[in-house]
Amino acid sequence: QLQRSDARRKLVVTDGVFSMDGDVAPLSDYVAACEDNDAWLMVDDAHGLGVLDDQGRGSVVAQGVNERVPVLMGTLGKGLGTAGAFVAGSHALIETLIQFARTYIYTTAMPAAVASATLVSLSKAREEHWRREKLVVLIQRFRAGAAQLGFTLMDSATPIQPLLIGADQQAMALSQQLREQGFLITAIRPPTVPDGQARLRVTLSAAHEESDVDALLAALEKVGCLTSDVGR
Ligand SMILES: Cc1ncc(COP(=O)(O)O)c(C=O)c1O
Repeated sequence: QLQRSDARRKLVVTDGVFSMDGDVAPLSDYVAACEDNDAWLMVDDAHGLGVLDDQGRGSVVAQGVNERVPVLMGTLGKGLGTAGAFVAGSHALIETLIQFARTYIYTTAMPAAVASATLVSLSKAREEHWRREKLVVLIQRFRAGAAQLGFTLMDSATPIQPLLIGADQQAMALSQQLREQGFLITAIRPPTVPDGQARLRVTLSAAHEESDVDALLAALEKVGCLTSDVGR
């Protein structure tokens, strides 16, 4: 598609970690394709930041392409637990956004308290490796347990662990049954995901304990039994 394009400026935009599947974009391939075709790559790493790389610097550092991604954006409201977002790039890019991006110019600046809290989150993300190590343990525990129950997992090694259900109604019913048991697991339906691929979007955090994962698996076993052929 890039080769066929005769656009004067080309920008390829991708998530680093895909928000509905939890899988990771093959950034080296994208970088190479962009470099070969005079295009820019922009990575939205909302779900990689804090989680991937040994200091939580996200997908672009984890995949060793940070010097070759011209536009990196991240949100602060996911792994970092505050709110807001940033764009990182060349001085010329950032200066251009400051001068010309109307949505930035005409909005109230981030409150100092949020910026300060984000700085604390950043140092925790950088230094407290146990959080990522704990997440990996929780993810593996959840995946092993859900697979054993017969649920269909997706190809994800990140804290986004969708369980593929299929029909919208069934995903909604399961989400409701889980809520009644104290678990907030949203059902994701089309158009957010393709038709027939409704899912339960399980999102794990370092604040969870192994006992939480076990309790969720027990609840899934219970609701799975109430609903026929769930994810099988
Ligand atoms: C990939 C991605 N980018 C950006 C956002 C937006 O983040 P925020 O709600 O902090 O604006 C989301 C969130 O929901 C997301 O999944």
